[in-house]
Amino acid sequence: MKKNIVVLTGAGISAESGIKTFRDSDGLWENYRIEDVASWDSFQKDSELVTKFYNARRRQLTTCEPNEGHKQLVRLEDKFNVTIVTQNVDNLHERAGSKNIIHLHGELTKACSVSDLTEVYDIGYHDITPMDTDKNGEMLRPFIVWFGENVPMLEPAIMEVQKADILIIIGTSLVVYPAAGLMHYASKNCKKYLIDPVRPNADLNGITFIQQKASVGVRQVVEELLK
Ligand code: APR
Repeated sequence: MKKNIVVLTGAGISAESGIKTFRDSDGLWENYRIEDVASWDSFQKDSELVTKFYNARRRQLTTCEPNEGHKQLVRLEDKFNVTIVTQNVDNLHERAGSKNIIHLHGELTKACSVSDLTEVYDIGYHDITPMDTDKNGEMLRPFIVWFGENVPMLEPAIMEVQKADILIIIGTSLVVYPAAGLMHYASKNCKKYLIDPVRPNADLNGITFIQQKASVGVRQVVEELLK
């Protein structure tokens, strides 16, 4: 029987594709404070600014390509059942060819109704405009899990982590919960890897830490697992 691999990814896996991480630079995310664009309060205060910000992130995706880190993970599917649990809202895992992807924090290429977050629309790379409404005439918002909001995909992600024989964590500062707590659902026998150029401020007991960029570290782990 194939073993189960769960890969938990954060902004770091997309860094080499040209998408900035949240906490590596000077505390600004593409020149905005995260709190000013990533909460329901900020959307209520200035929906135009927030929508414009995510429109720009979505457009940026059209200029980015999956990197070696995303691509190497796809190779694991030959030998393992692989589930990617990503905190990223980009679509680079999909575009690299990974099949099972759980997006914990939403997806840039989707919009949802402001009054019903489960009413989701595929918008591809199109901007969201004030003219766009759901079927009841309600405004659309980016399909992003903002700070303080529920994380509906958390339960399915926990179930996958609980079944994992191998957990690979890549490019996350492990400071944003509940995502950062996911690794604690892994069983005692689960083999754990963490790939990041910077040692995170978390307890790495029982985890094989590979201090590398995703492009290098993921290849190394994938080669080891496919051996
Ligand atoms: N390869 C691998 N890791 C990298 C690379 C790289 N080339 N470059 C940077 N990193 C690492 C950093 O060292 C850091 O540990 O990626 C991590 C990025 O951390 P954050 O910016 O905090 O991103 P993330 O952990 O994904 O943030 C979690 O916070 O704002 C919210 O919802 C947003 O999903 C996001 C969540």
